[in-house]
Amino acid sequence: MRMDELLKKQGFGSRNQIKKLLKSHQVKIDGKLVTGANTIVDAQVQKIEVAGQRVRDSSLVYYLLHKPAGIVTARKDGQHQTVLDLLAKEVSKDGLYPVGRLDRDTEGLVLITNNGPLGFKLLHPSHHISKTYLVEVNGYLAEDAVDFFDQGVRFLDGNICKPAQLDILNAEETKSRARLVITEGKFHQVKKMFLAYGLKVTYLKRIAFGPLKLGDLERGRYRPLAKDEIAILLDQTRA
Ligand code: URA
Repeated sequence: MRMDELLKKQGFGSRNQIKKLLKSHQVKIDGKLVTGANTIVDAQVQKIEVAGQRVRDSSLVYYLLHKPAGIVTARKDGQHQTVLDLLAKEVSKDGLYPVGRLDRDTEGLVLITNNGPLGFKLLHPSHHISKTYLVEVNGYLAEDAVDFFDQGVRFLDGNICKPAQLDILNAEETKSRARLVITEGKFHQVKKMFLAYGLKVTYLKRIAFGPLKLGDLERGRYRPLAKDEIAILLDQTRA
């Protein structure tokens, strides 16, 4: 959440009073002065002090979920099960939402949180948060594909992507596998990039989102983020 939201919630006065507190150099994060009311914070992983007084708050939660294919990355859906439906009742909370989206037939890592401003920043292009995918395609992936992705793929509709890192894991006439790292989140980006190269994606799995790794978490399961993972996310989205 934003610093001003946290301080308001913890009873430090109106937004204006909080702005004054910040301007008068009375607020610290991990020992360092902060003045920005919009700084994204989490009092569970950062030591936040106002005039030497520790501020505590444990309302923010973060889950790393392994989305199976067939599940929709949305809060609600009239037809299909959503990623939020996979959370047990005990951990469900108002305000939880998936950060970014995977197609229904894509599986892999989805971050779910109620820290809205952090989620927004993680998706903002200015922070270049990487997303790593395992991809299977329906044909031969030649070495020239590495340069093709590195030079910025142009979609068939003319839209141009930022350079992406392709590692070919295995290439055969009718099926190839690769790892792809992108730093944007255009709609159907990976599928459209491969279409521009001339191949169709037949399987797609997100294995990393910035510093977060899916690891061996089973399909349909989720785990809370560790404090150091949250701290890295906060750090990477600092302006
Ligand atoms: N790119 C896609 O094409 N689909 C996804 O689900 C994620 C990235």
